Amino acid sequence: MKEQVDLIVTGASEGVTVSGGGDGPLCGHAMDDCGVVREGAVAMRDGVVVAVDERSVLDAVYEGQHVLDARGGTILPGLIDPHTHPVFAATREEEFDMRAKGATYQEITASGGGIFSSVRSLRETPRDQLESRLKIHLDRFLACGTTTIEAKSGYGLSLEHEILSLELLMEADVHHRVDIDPTCLAAHQVPPEFQDDREAYVDLVVNQILPEVSRRGIARSADVFCDEGAFTVEESRAVLAGAQKVGLDLRVHADELAPVGAAELAAQMGARTADHLVMVSPEGIDAMVNENVTPILLPGTSFSLRLPNKAPADAMIEAGLPLALASDFNPGTCHISSMIEIIALACGTLGLTVAQALVAATRNGAETLGVSGVRGRIQPGALADLVLLDVPNHLFLGYQMGWNPVRAVVKNGEVAWQR
Ligand code: NIG
Ligand code: FE
Repeated sequence: MKEQVDLIVTGASEGVTVSGGGDGPLCGHAMDDCGVVREGAVAMRDGVVVAVDERSVLDAVYEGQHVLDARGGTILPGLIDPHTHPVFAATREEEFDMRAKGATYQEITASGGGIFSSVRSLRETPRDQLESRLKIHLDRFLACGTTTIEAKSGYGLSLEHEILSLELLMEADVHHRVDIDPTCLAAHQVPPEFQDDREAYVDLVVNQILPEVSRRGIARSADVFCDEGAFTVEESRAVLAGAQKVGLDLRVHADELAPVGAAELAAQMGARTADHLVMVSPEGIDAMVNENVTPILLPGTSFSLRLPNKAPADAMIEAGLPLALASDFNPGTCHISSMIEIIALACGTLGLTVAQALVAATRNGAETLGVSGVRGRIQPGALADLVLLDVPNHLFLGYQMGWNPVRAVVKNGEVAWQR
């Protein structure tokens, strides 16, 4: 008698488990092994993985109420995107064109565009329209194989509009198949009405917005944009201390545009992640190693902004850090929602191997989001979140760009999307 399960995914030429090496993220060169099982198959029950093994082994033990044929393709864990900004009203493709004509991101911000433009449009857009925009963005993530995202507010920049943004994310987490881990990014920019009194805005964030967000339970983390043209290290320190005081996890937009010492600050404050890091110093990397800060790299943003420098991914891996990748999906600096494209960009522009990029796009990002060991990997007890790709092995992820190879997405053990 075979053991009954709800769903078996079988018929793949390869299954990628990302499950080796015990608990936690994979650090440094442990990322070289993404756990490939030839002809891997997966059995699931009650939304959780029961077994993953070679097809012949699995077929001998389990019988599925439903069977999904992977047709010689590749099975991956549901992709994890640990840095996104999906709550916004209007796109900013004209800024992409301005940058193509020579303007820099900082110049566009200084002239009232950039984040300011997204703040204006969010504040004048009705709630139901923001909600339908968000749903479109989430549908795209799912169709590209992403099953969990971290998602930031940060285009409201007032108590009212930051709460609205986070409430929309909390509601979407209930109604949409994509799981959402919300972060308050009230410290994304100093809004126009506070331009003459930056201190008063930091005070509003620390003493009103973050405490209210925490009281309502509408975010698990807080973030601050600590960089040239955004918040200074001292302002950011105050924001992070305030967030810590009300029990929020810390994440930092760090050293993207200039080496301001944001990675060092993230380490000092015990932040869980430091993101971007295009200009991080060697001291910043050392500080992250010493304090267990996960670096999240966003190669789509460097690409869209035409930044002359690249985040030093190799140095981070050599230093033994658990590198993660994210899309940074937002209206201004990166309009990419596919982690599969991000994996290809990470291989092509940051020099990662496909195995390293896959670990970074699954397990290592997942480990920055609360509960450990259940997302971003395929192993008994993990959430049954899988992606089926129409490519014969994982190496196609770096090698092939330009079409979406996702054929089906399984979320909590059910088919949530199919081509
Ligand atoms: O991660 N760096 C800061 N914030 C976002 C983009 C902000 C925007 O331009 O809308 C980012 O790139
Ligand atoms: Fe960002």
